[in-house]
Amino acid sequence: METKILLSEKEIPTRWYNITPDLPEQLPPPLHPGTGQPIGPADLSPIFPMGLIMQEMSNERWIDIPDEIIEAYKIYRPTPLHRAHRLEKALKTNARIYYKNESVSPAGSHKPNTAIPQAYYNKQEGVKRICTETGAGQWGSSIALACKIFGMECTVYMVRVSYEQKPYRRFLMQTWGAEVFASPTNMTNAGRKILSEDPNSPGSLGIAISEAVEDAAIHDDAKYSLGSVLNHVLLHQTIIGLETKKQLDLAGEKPDVLIGCVGGGSNFAGLAFPFVPDKLKGQDIRLIAVEPTACPTLTKGVYTYDFGDAVGLTPLVKMYTLGHSFVPPGIHAGGLRYHGDAPQLCLLVKNKIVEAVAYAQNPVFEAAMLFAQTEGIIPAPETSHAIRCAIDEAKKNNNNCIVFNLSGHGHFDMTAYDNYLSGKLEDYEYPIEKISEAIAKIPKF
Ligand SMILES: Cc1ncc(COP(=O)(O)O)c(C=O)c1O
Repeated sequence: METKILLSEKEIPTRWYNITPDLPEQLPPPLHPGTGQPIGPADLSPIFPMGLIMQEMSNERWIDIPDEIIEAYKIYRPTPLHRAHRLEKALKTNARIYYKNESVSPAGSHKPNTAIPQAYYNKQEGVKRICTETGAGQWGSSIALACKIFGMECTVYMVRVSYEQKPYRRFLMQTWGAEVFASPTNMTNAGRKILSEDPNSPGSLGIAISEAVEDAAIHDDAKYSLGSVLNHVLLHQTIIGLETKKQLDLAGEKPDVLIGCVGGGSNFAGLAFPFVPDKLKGQDIRLIAVEPTACPTLTKGVYTYDFGDAVGLTPLVKMYTLGHSFVPPGIHAGGLRYHGDAPQLCLLVKNKIVEAVAYAQNPVFEAAMLFAQTEGIIPAPETSHAIRCAIDEAKKNNNNCIVFNLSGHGHFDMTAYDNYLSGKLEDYEYPIEKISEAIAKIPKF
């Protein structure tokens, strides 16, 4: 019985999969925040390098991965696909559970899969510094690492609640050479505006994005980088699902259920998108996106155009959203606290190709504990949402092959485990009235 299905470095995929041409309907274009008109490459060029803008707008199904990126991927790729024998035994299930272990990257999550190419394409175009936001610190540490690999500077706006709860992630970013600020800061117009309304703002991904975008837009040698949501980010993450396909073939398996947690949608898409063409051809695969009840974007949001950030600096994209002014409570899965989701993923949810479910913190940590005590790996709180769902699917005991994305480990999240173990974690269902309030503030186009 094999526990880890491994690929050699020679088997790292050489192309990413772009889902755009395979979507069931055309992706609605992003709109300019000032005019409400569809934007073109030139509108994005103040904040992104052209190499990434072309990928963002590409209709090509396959995009070659440059050799320099594959060389950098070799630091941790290919990642193992594990068979969760011990978890299966504990659940007394007939289901076969597999997980793709993205926690083996130096930053401890899937995020370097896109941080590395993003730093590479920026470097190619002479950019000296990358500005970004981070929630739990997973993205910030990944881009800090990627900037170091390609010899660039890095500025990270870290959501204040995580900055305070997770100092070790900050040290990690600083070790890889990044400058880190607690957002909202008083260094940007966006940050000052939020602080004038709420001096104790816990911050949010949306606010931190506004700050990083502003920093990049006003400095010629700097560009902005986003760790999720955008088409090119999801594209880079498909390396996960492309490897998983090869590994499942080696194991003689076809997946019945694919599961990933969703913050902005990138790790879920990375695992699931390469299987979408199989589903569209009639293969019976369920694709399940899992989110927290505290930030129920796909399960309670509305499908409409909204800003990607809190202040309204970014283009408007069509997505499920809780409203850009939504500030989610400070749950421990900091990386899942985002008001919107990737437009490509949202389109698939709208067309019922992807299902969405939401779980509260306590059942999520209960699943994380069982996973840690059977498989040994301590999962990130974000990832544990996917584990909860995989366990619930396995409990149906119907011989299914269940695959989930182990998007990251939780070594820097032990305070969350401590809170769970001492009974201090609160479950939070975001009140529908508050969602309606934030949705009412979305501009009409
Ligand atoms: C470990 C981990 N998993 C998942 C996510 C959610 O992001 P995404 O939906 O883009 O994969 C994050 C975000 O920070 C994360 O750190």
